[in-house]
Amino acid sequence: MTGMADNDITHLQVALGPRSYPIHIGSNLLDRADQLLADQLSGRQAVILSDSHTGPLYAARLTEKLAPITRRLDHLEIAAGEASKSMASYADLMDRLLGLGVDRQLVLIALGGGVVGDLTGFAAASLLRGVDFVQIPTSLLAQVDSSVGGKTGINMTAGKNLVGAFWQPRAVLADLSLLASLPERELRAGYAETVKYGLLGDADFFSWAEAHGAECLALDPAVLGRAVYQACRMKAEIVGTDETESDRRMLLNLGHSFGHALEAEAGYDGRLLHGEAVSLGMVMAFDFSVRLGLCEAQSASRVRQHLARMGLPVSAADLPAGLRQTSGLADRLTRHMAKDKKVRNGRLRLVLVRAIGAAFVAEDISGDQLSAFLADWVEG
Ligand code: GLY
Repeated sequence: MTGMADNDITHLQVALGPRSYPIHIGSNLLDRADQLLADQLSGRQAVILSDSHTGPLYAARLTEKLAPITRRLDHLEIAAGEASKSMASYADLMDRLLGLGVDRQLVLIALGGGVVGDLTGFAAASLLRGVDFVQIPTSLLAQVDSSVGGKTGINMTAGKNLVGAFWQPRAVLADLSLLASLPERELRAGYAETVKYGLLGDADFFSWAEAHGAECLALDPAVLGRAVYQACRMKAEIVGTDETESDRRMLLNLGHSFGHALEAEAGYDGRLLHGEAVSLGMVMAFDFSVRLGLCEAQSASRVRQHLARMGLPVSAADLPAGLRQTSGLADRLTRHMAKDKKVRNGRLRLVLVRAIGAAFVAEDISGDQLSAFLADWVEG
């Protein structure tokens, strides 16, 4: 993994041997997509996949830039929202792609947030047994997390992302200017995933976020660029050492086991965004670590205070109306957590912390301690 700047663009490299790829970070990159993606797209057939929000905003601009360098360029749109990460929309997308008349030289271009990126990536992993794809993430969450690292997939009735593949993109273009059209709530949710990198492995980055988080949410380009760069740098480094999450990559799931349980409980209906669930989940991971005697209470307070100051949910009292009051919530959260992908040989593993910037994978968590913690957490 290397980082270098050229004018106002920063370039990182995810080092995975022959599957290595660049991450370009900067403002107004869409207008330079023809140069930045020339290696991946020149002379090839490509299909832009957007959703019903990102298509009308950006597809025409991107098409104008890429049509001259591609052999043929099409644009397909999916409905915006988590519901599109389903088996039904995956099957529909495959039929539409095959209907265009494609071969294995095809390149898919994901133009959207996490939903578009995850679905496009899984389509790329499986279409004709695998075609190339590039990521143009349009949300902060996708820029700092989901567009990098090759996790692709769809949701099943049993849970999120339970069918998918590790399939790395050929390039990631993180255009900071696209974040200006993001609803403020989505921006905050993406900020939670950004801060996660400080909490899991870089205490200095968390201190920096405490000082500059507000400027980041105000879209100050220099501050935002630094935050996206730091996050992608850490993610690229971790993915480069553990692509398929056999150990170290698990740290990127800080707050996610708790968060996924809350999302499952909320029903993916938009009442609780993924980044909001991660914010709650990270505070829970710190609180649970304090309860187990692993971490000082002062660190957990600092985390809670910062996330709350950034307008993110941090406690059960912040859960959407109608969710907190449901009876049996703690039991259902415990059951969701027992089904998580991080369970290995029936034993529950959780990312916990010894301090800010010092996450680790705790094996063999006691179900009783976890359910007692969740019961207290729900009561507030
Ligand atoms: N979002 C966690 C990972 O990519 O591993």
